[in-house]
Amino acid sequence: MAEEGTHGAQAEPWVAAAEDSLTVTDNRTGETYVVPITEGTVKAMDFRQMKTGEGDFGLMTYDPAFTNTAHCRSQICYIDGDQGVLEYRGHPIEQLCDQSTHLEVAYLLLHGELPTKEQLDYWVYVVTHHTFVHENIKRSMEAFRYDAHPMGMLLSTVGALSTFYPAAKNLDDETEHWMAITRLIAKMPTLAAFAYRHNLGLPYVYPDNDLSYAGNFLSMLYNINEPRYQPDPRLERALDVLWILHADHEQNCSTAAVRAVGSSRVDPYSAVAAGVAALYGPLHGGANEAVLRMLERIGSVENIPAFLQGVKERKEKLMGFGHRVYKNYDPRARIIKKHVDEVLEAVGMDNPKLEIAVELEKRALDDEFFTERKLYPNVDFYSGLIYEALSIPTDMFTVMFAIPRTAGWLAQWHEMLEDPETKIARPRQVYTGARERDYVPLDQR
Ligand code: CMC
Repeated sequence: MAEEGTHGAQAEPWVAAAEDSLTVTDNRTGETYVVPITEGTVKAMDFRQMKTGEGDFGLMTYDPAFTNTAHCRSQICYIDGDQGVLEYRGHPIEQLCDQSTHLEVAYLLLHGELPTKEQLDYWVYVVTHHTFVHENIKRSMEAFRYDAHPMGMLLSTVGALSTFYPAAKNLDDETEHWMAITRLIAKMPTLAAFAYRHNLGLPYVYPDNDLSYAGNFLSMLYNINEPRYQPDPRLERALDVLWILHADHEQNCSTAAVRAVGSSRVDPYSAVAAGVAALYGPLHGGANEAVLRMLERIGSVENIPAFLQGVKERKEKLMGFGHRVYKNYDPRARIIKKHVDEVLEAVGMDNPKLEIAVELEKRALDDEFFTERKLYPNVDFYSGLIYEALSIPTDMFTVMFAIPRTAGWLAQWHEMLEDPETKIARPRQVYTGARERDYVPLDQR
C-alpha cells in the first residue's frame, strides 16, 4: 500500500521505489510521488499528476533545446561522447569505413542488419536504376537564378518530388513506402549535381548506371564531354568514406526535424525536405566551410601561435574543434584525416592549408586551454579540405552532407512510423504573455 499522500505513477509504487524509481516531494503540497525510471529515463507525463489542486494543469518539464530530453527510443545510431565511440546498428564506424560502402551502410541503417550478397546486389541495382529524375524536375532546377544557393535548390526540388510521386503519401502501403526510400537515396546525388552544374552554367549530366553511387556522382559533377567518365578510384573511395561517416548521427537538429515533420504523417519527400532545411542552417551543416575560411585567414604556419593566442583571448573560436557530444577525439575526424593525403595526391594538389591544419591540430592538442576543455578536432576539421581538393565550392559543402544524411533521415523516419509510441510531435509551451485584454478600437489607441 502506498503511504498517505504518496502517489504511484504505476500500480505498485513501492515495487518501483525499491528498484529503479525516483521519489519526488512536491514542496507546494507536501505530496510525495514515485516515478519509475526506465532505461535511465523518467517520463515527462509522469509529472503531470503533480498538481497544487483542482484546475491545476499539472507539472510540465521545460527543455527548450531538448538538451536533456529523449524524444524517441531508437536502435539506429549509438554515440558515446566521452569515449569517442560511434556505431551504426552496433557496428563500429571504423570497421564500416574500412570495409563497407555507403550503400551497404544505408541498407544497414534502414534494415538493422548487414545485407547478404543477394540483398546487397538487389539494393544497389534498384538504387542505381532510380537515379534519373523527371525532366520537369530538371526544368524547375533550370528556372533558378544562376547564383541560387545549391541548398535552396536542393530543398525545393526534394519537396517538389512529392508532387511527382503522390502515392508516397499512402504511408501504410509498404511498396510505396520502400519506393520513396529508394527514390530519395537514388535521386539525392542527381539533384545535388544538377544544382552544382547550374551554378557553373554547365549542362546537367545524366546519371551513369554503370558507375558506383559515389563514382556516378563524380561523373555528374565533372564530366564535360567524355563519352564515359572514369572516376579516380581514390577520389571515389574517399567520397564514399565521407558519406559513410555522415550517414547518421542520431537525434541531431535535421533528424529531429524529419521525425517531427514526419510524425504528422506527411509524405517522406516533404519530411526529408524539412531535414534539408534544418541542415542548411550555419549551426548545423555549415562548420566545415568556416574551417576553410579560418585556414585561409591564418595563411601560414608562422601565424599559428598568434592565431591560437587570439582564440585563448576569446577573440574567435578554433573552428572544427569541440563538439556538444564528443568530449574526446571525434572518431570521424581520425578516419577522414587518413584520406586527406590520398585525395590531395590524386588531384595533384599541394594544398598549403593542409600543412596549416596539421600543425594547428598538433599545437592545439599540446595546449592546456584546449585539453582542459576537452576540445578535440571534429569531423569538420578535415572534411572541408577534401571537398576543396575535389574543387567543390564552399556553397556546396552542406549539399555534400545532405546526400549521405538522407539514408539516416529515412532510417529514422521508418523507425518512427514503426514505433507504436509515435504520436504527432506537439510540444507544450510556458505561456508568459498577457491575458484577457479588451480589444481597443483603432481610433482610441
Ligand atoms: N574554440 C575555442 N574555444 C572553444 C571552442 C572552440 N572551437 N569550442 C568550445 N570552446 C570553449 C568554450 O568557450 C567554453 O569555454 P569556457 O568553459 O571557458 O567558457 C568551453 O570550450 C565549452 O564549450 P561549450 O560552448 O560549452 O561547448 P558546446 O558543447 O556548447 O559547443 C560546439 C560545441 C561544437 C558548438 C563548439 O565546440 C564550437 O562552436 N565549435 C566550433 C564549431 C564547429 O567546429 N562545429 C562543428 C561541430 S561537428 C559537426 C556535427 O557533428 O554536426
